[in-house]
Amino acid sequence: MQRSQSSTILNQQTIISQEDLLISRTDPNGVITQCNDIFVKMSGWNKEELLGSNHNIIRHPDMRQVIFKMAWDHIKNNKEFYGYFKNLRKDGGYYWVFAYITAEVDSNGVTTGYASYRRFTPQEAIEAISPIYKILCLAEEQGGVISSEPLFTHYLEKAGFGSYDKFIVDVRLSCFSRNLLKR
Ligand SMILES: Cc1cc2nc3c(=O)[nH]c(=O)nc-3n(C[C@H](O)[C@H](O)[C@H](O)COP(=O)(O)O)c2cc1C
Repeated sequence: MQRSQSSTILNQQTIISQEDLLISRTDPNGVITQCNDIFVKMSGWNKEELLGSNHNIIRHPDMRQVIFKMAWDHIKNNKEFYGYFKNLRKDGGYYWVFAYITAEVDSNGVTTGYASYRRFTPQEAIEAISPIYKILCLAEEQGGVISSEPLFTHYLEKAGFGSYDKFIVDVRLSCFSRNLLKR
């Protein structure tokens, strides 16, 4: 059964621990079929409420449609997707994750569903990503994903990344190296 996202939005962040791995699986339409205990806990819903719901139940309004479009374009073409997601909790708070999403394919090559594995996001990555999401938000408010997609591509090219995948890897690596230098 599809449930509605929380309609309350609170500026209240919950930080996941560096050891946590939040897992969910969906059918080919993005309806949640499995999830682990820490995914359930962070969402604030209970497992019965999550199973059978569309994955957008945890979509935060600050997340941009262009990111989800890229995610679906990747996984529908059997390409792995990495991205930073600000997810909405049932209580209206939020938590950031670094998400990996991949297709699950049977021995006949048929996609049986998708799976996502999410980890802690360093503050530096949140600071790098949030302003970009804000710019994309303005573009989407004015012209939807048709406006934000070319804007994002242009931004990536101008910043010398060439592709979204390279951009994500670079943000991740620069956060790791900064954290290593701090030790
Ligand atoms: C395996 C898998 C995991 C997903 N994980 C998330 C997630 O953590 N947060 C999220 O907002 N959307 C996630 N999505 C994307 C949602 O299916 C959906 O595209 C997104 O929330 C935007 O929904 P909307 O276009 O209906 O607003 C995931 C999709 C799949 C297939």
